[in-house]
Amino acid sequence: MEEERGQIHEGLEGIVVTATRLSHVDGERGRLIIAGSDVEHLAQRCDFEQACALLSSASGRDTNPEQTRELLRAGRARAFARLPQLGDALRRDNAMDALRAAVAHLPEDATPEDAIAAVSVYTAAYARTRAGLTPIAPRPELRHAEALLAMLGLQVGAAPARALDAYLVTVIDHGLNASTFAARVVASTRSDLVSALVAGIGALKGPLHGGAPGPVLEMLDAIGESSRARAYLEAELAAGRRIMGMGHRIYRQRDPRAFVLERAVTELAGALHDGSGAADARVLAKLALARAVEHSAEGLLEQQKPGRHLRANVEFYTAVLLSALGVDAQLFTPVFACARSAGWAAHVHEQHANGRLIRPASRYIGAMPAADSCEK
Ligand code: COA
Repeated sequence: MEEERGQIHEGLEGIVVTATRLSHVDGERGRLIIAGSDVEHLAQRCDFEQACALLSSASGRDTNPEQTRELLRAGRARAFARLPQLGDALRRDNAMDALRAAVAHLPEDATPEDAIAAVSVYTAAYARTRAGLTPIAPRPELRHAEALLAMLGLQVGAAPARALDAYLVTVIDHGLNASTFAARVVASTRSDLVSALVAGIGALKGPLHGGAPGPVLEMLDAIGESSRARAYLEAELAAGRRIMGMGHRIYRQRDPRAFVLERAVTELAGALHDGSGAADARVLAKLALARAVEHSAEGLLEQQKPGRHLRANVEFYTAVLLSALGVDAQLFTPVFACARSAGWAAHVHEQHANGRLIRPASRYIGAMPAADSCEK
């Protein structure tokens, strides 16, 4: 086939390559619809299992929330039982490298729920192994978000579980983002779910996609207090660096997920009691700092890129929320994968059911062979 000679769409921006029932990103209005619900409503109404079931049904699978809950519970137990077979997979320096290697060990015929559960179990097992501790077995009586907190060795309770559920539901799916596209490309060749998830994890690792919240937290820690925000951000921009957690390929408004997560942190802060009041004060101080930094960054970016509307994206408040839950910054991207694996799995199912091989074209700009190059 002769390759495309027409216009080049670098980054495929604005190119529609498939139809989906899973989620819709309206960048102009700052709206995200997931399986028929606005993300704000979904995060308020559903826990992770319910959101998984909704996505799964929307992808065309015959399922319901109770089945999904049971399948994820069984999947967590199976994944934990498989840990001894992973060898050195979890002993990597980089958490996403470890997760990619561990997920690659899943059997080729793993069900979506087995695969989604395994991402959480492997993330927690990595965290424990890395800290020189023994992995904690999933407790069967807990819901998925609670079980993940418990396996990470973090405080389990109604408020942290609600906050983690809000996070997992909010980031479960997001149109044809880079990792979902990577997963769909793999699925479009009729390859298997596990191969598609490995591709998704590889794409999510990058700092322009799921790798941003760690640097956001580093930035907030480096700024330390609101009065230093402007000078710090000006220096970053003057050095030609991007402000992490700001800007988005599609949103021309503040990312709707930033609103949901900001509210979830506020609620978490109000509910965290360690007796001394120090825990909620610490979270509230970080939240106040984040808001001040966001405000400053928004103003400076508007000066630098007028009319581009570079606003806070989901990663900005992810950093604040996950750190308030006690999640180590190294684990921010794997915890993102714990949620997004459900989106990937649903997209893989949809792609397998209806999709066409994804095979774009490129324009060759390399050297052409000399007329006599093959002559002896
Ligand atoms: N800080 C500084 N400048 C930024 C910026 C940021 N966060 N985001 C975009 N810009 C600049 C770009 O460098 C570009 O400048 P140029 O025209 O001189 O090349 C301009 O604004 C337009 O960029 P845009 O087309 O909006 O970016 P994109 O669609 O290629 O990239 C992101 C989108 C998300 C990758 C980008 O905004 C970014 O790198 N943000 C920081 C990383 C991040 O938070 N990622 C998580 C995404 S959910």
